[in-house]
Amino acid sequence: MNISSNRGIFIVMEGVDGAGKSTQVQLLGRAFSAAGREVVLSKEPTDGPWGSKLRESASTGRMSLEDELNHFVQDRKQHVEELITPSLQEGKVVIVDRYFYSTMAYQGARGADPQEVRSTMLEFAPEPDIVFLIDIDPAISIRERVAESRGDEPNEFEQVETLQRVRTIFNEMAKAEPHFS
Ligand code: TYD
Repeated sequence: MNISSNRGIFIVMEGVDGAGKSTQVQLLGRAFSAAGREVVLSKEPTDGPWGSKLRESASTGRMSLEDELNHFVQDRKQHVEELITPSLQEGKVVIVDRYFYSTMAYQGARGADPQEVRSTMLEFAPEPDIVFLIDIDPAISIRERVAESRGDEPNEFEQVETLQRVRTIFNEMAKAEPHFS
């Protein structure tokens, strides 16, 4: 990859909760800035209306799978239209903490068919140039997160058992997908 060309570069960081994605996103962003590139860091769910509702639901009672899928998809549509696509068109390096692979893995762990979700609900989402999957045992990542006392104790989204299923789906995807690293 030529990091000093003017073309936009779209990078995605994926992994289970507590895998350290946000740290890697920051480090990667700094490296691209040091190479003279304009960098945009972002994450999903976003802080927009759909993403905010999703965060609320983690504490007020989880939505049905169908509603949850719809919220993640709508949140992503807005993210793609308002931030990701325009930034790439301006030649920026866009680094996103979670993207549609999280929907496939997390909502897949809840019972949705990951490939069906991708082919029926996510066609609008551009493919990243590269996806980094941070593979860590959820039993360890969650323990470390609590030890760091980040204030976000394991909630409904963060049950270790569910995250084991999420991890398995991520790893299956990584074997099949050309963009994974
Ligand atoms: P977030 O607030 O980013 O938490 P974290 O900092 O732990 O990554 O995300 C909240 C949860 O949303 C997280 O457990 C993963 C989940 N999620 C999905 O279930 N589907 C999705 O499509 C996305 C983007 C996230």
